[in-house]
Amino acid sequence: MSEPNIQLMENGPILIKGPGKYVNAEGQEEQKDQNWLALCRCGHSPIHPFCDGTHKEKGFEAAKGEIHTS
Ligand code: FES
Repeated sequence: MSEPNIQLMENGPILIKGPGKYVNAEGQEEQKDQNWLALCRCGHSPIHPFCDGTHKEKGFEAAKGEIHTS
C-alpha cells in the first residue's frame, strides 16, 4: 500500500493525496469522490476542516513544504 502524499501549498491548504479514509467527529466514515483532501490551515474556511478557497481573499501567507510519513 502506498503512503499518502502530504503537501503544504504555498499560501494555501494542506493537500493530502493518496489512499485513506476520512472519519468525521462522530466516528462515521465519509465517502469522498476524489482521491485527495484539501485541509484549511488559514483558519477562515466556513467548511472547516476543509479548504474552500477563502485563503485567497484573506491574503493568507505561508511557505510551501512536504510532510513525509515514512
Ligand atoms: S487554507 Fe483554504 S480556506 Fe483556509
